[in-house]
Amino acid sequence: MELRFIVTAGPTREHIDPVRFISNPSTGRMGFAVAAAAARRGHAVTLVAGPVSLSTPRGVRRIDVVSARDMLAAVEEELSAARSGRADVFFVSTAAVADWRPRRMAASKLKKASMSGILELVRNPDILKTVGGCRKIGFAAETGDAVAEARRKCREKGLDLVVANDVTAQGAGFGARTNRVVFVTPDGAARPLPLLSKAAIGARIVKFCEALSRGDVDSQWLGGIG
Ligand code: PMT
Repeated sequence: MELRFIVTAGPTREHIDPVRFISNPSTGRMGFAVAAAAARRGHAVTLVAGPVSLSTPRGVRRIDVVSARDMLAAVEEELSAARSGRADVFFVSTAAVADWRPRRMAASKLKKASMSGILELVRNPDILKTVGGCRKIGFAAETGDAVAEARRKCREKGLDLVVANDVTAQGAGFGARTNRVVFVTPDGAARPLPLLSKAAIGARIVKFCEALSRGDVDSQWLGGIG
């Protein structure tokens, strides 16, 4: 059973001027691990990557983007092409998309003296919430009660799975080679996994998608994924 995966990874950059931007510390490792795991299982994978310095996993088609709006446009284009095929389509949103952008990007470098008080921010689109016509897997990057927030995001964004991570935990979150995550499903069930490599977590997310496509996911199945 070949599935179609569209995976976002890394940060977005929201430019203030040509040399300054708003961003975050995402390295893309988590998303690249999901894409690599899906390709290893023989699925068709497109990786939409923000600015990162990782090489493209074997068998993965990669589209590089900079801003949240670029990322949304690339995901929508890929999704509309994917929906015309016969395979089940999964959108896995691991990217740390900037929620805000400057209202205007200056065309040339701003002078230091002219910068004070000029930064007016507007909301970026929520890519995961906006797109449809596919199965949706989201992440929740939290610093407090990750499971409660994941349950809320699952409901509000209509997700099939939320992978919650406490980004302040040791060996987890931004930049680490490992992660500590909890799988949260739409029925509110929460399945904590031990500290694992991002590659191992990517493989479990792909396994979940395969089981969902077969109609196999229940609490017993989820209990066995650790
Ligand atoms: O890249 P690494 O260094 O390996 O780090 C991995 C990670 C910490 C970035 C990853 O594990 C992670 O938690 N990714 C989600 C980061 C995030 O933006 O979480 P959030 O809770 O703010 O957003 C919830 C979900 O909505 C996410 O799936 C996010 O991709 C999506 N989103 C958020 C905002 C937005 N404007 N559009 C979105 O699609």
